[in-house]
Amino acid sequence: MSAYDRGVLRSKILGLGSYVPERVVTNEEIAYLDERHVRHETKRTETTDEWIRARTGIEQRRYVPNDESTTCSDLAKWASERALADAGCSASEVDCIILATLSPDIHFPGTAVFLQSRLGIDGEGGCPCFDIRQQCSGFLYALQMADNFVRGGQYKRVLVVGSELHSHSLDYSTRGRDVMVLFGDAAGAVVVGPTETDDPREGILYTKLGADGSGAMDLHLKVFDSKKMPHIQYNEKWGVPETMYPQMNGKKVFLNAVRAMNLSTRAALEATGLTWNDVDWFVPHQANLRINEAVVHYGEIPPEKVLNSIQLYGNTTAATIPLTLDHHRKEGRVKKGDLVVSSVFGAGFTWGAAVFRV
Ligand code: ACO
Repeated sequence: MSAYDRGVLRSKILGLGSYVPERVVTNEEIAYLDERHVRHETKRTETTDEWIRARTGIEQRRYVPNDESTTCSDLAKWASERALADAGCSASEVDCIILATLSPDIHFPGTAVFLQSRLGIDGEGGCPCFDIRQQCSGFLYALQMADNFVRGGQYKRVLVVGSELHSHSLDYSTRGRDVMVLFGDAAGAVVVGPTETDDPREGILYTKLGADGSGAMDLHLKVFDSKKMPHIQYNEKWGVPETMYPQMNGKKVFLNAVRAMNLSTRAALEATGLTWNDVDWFVPHQANLRINEAVVHYGEIPPEKVLNSIQLYGNTTAATIPLTLDHHRKEGRVKKGDLVVSSVFGAGFTWGAAVFRV
């Protein structure tokens, strides 16, 4: 009798994949770009490579082609196909999609249904599709749902995706420089399914999430405001809706991120009874290298076990965790079955930690 039949189901990550667009935008180049990502002779934004590297650790990021050909669900599709191939399963076996993004294709419907169509598994009998709107914490929020869906016996092949097309909604001017330099485009995905083992140190061991709505407006992007009539307001000076760019109280986000990621990482170790000797890798959300260095310092985490990728990709929000894992797997560091502790923090405020074998 299989674990599935006995009702002692555990879930595991069956496959991992990621996708980044080809265009590399360096810190030097970003100062010269306009909102269509065209490089000008003179600077559009007062910023420097030194400032961005010193304050964030970011050296470059990836952007989709500037021909309006690419959507968030395209990035999601390309990452999903790689995760499915890695899992050795076909798209037709997926019985649930959970997609995390803060940069959806359109306001509604959610982006997971567009991904379903792009994967060619739409139509009558199509699987359920969920959108998760928890920003930088979105991937772990989605992973917790997938873990519980699988352990509850509801679904057997859950496609969990974090996908972001940030570069079309940033303010390419000195006014928006604090946020604009941080973000990049990318997607990452995993396939979650049941495992035969009931060993508590296999598969997905632990997930815990949290949120504090009092921080909601410290990092937000309105686009529209439903109390206004009409719900999108134009700013005469800017010539665009005044609500179309992200707004951030950077210092408050920074301090809360360090605190929440430190506490949630400690709680994960305590709940699972693991020490850093048992763990192969710590994979924090990639918002700012200084945030991660502080979490590693306060958490007394062995630096050689920490995986970052922000230097190359910037903050790719819901995609950072699978992207960072896949990047370091391609580099030959991460191996199948390695034990990972991950912690995240994002707009909302939202946060979480998870322990899983990759
Ligand atoms: N280039 C040059 N100067 C800049 C830039 C830039 N890109 N951005 C801001 N500055 C200036 C500011 O205007 C300010 O100038 P002033 O002193 O003349 O007023 C100066 O640099 C210092 O600004 P600070 O905001 O104090 O800089 P700080 O060290 O706090 O770094 C940063 C800013 C990088 C944004 C930091 O606060 C941060 O990373 N915060 C957290 C971001 C984050 O974690 N986001 C969460 C995830 S995102 C999500 O969930 C969607």
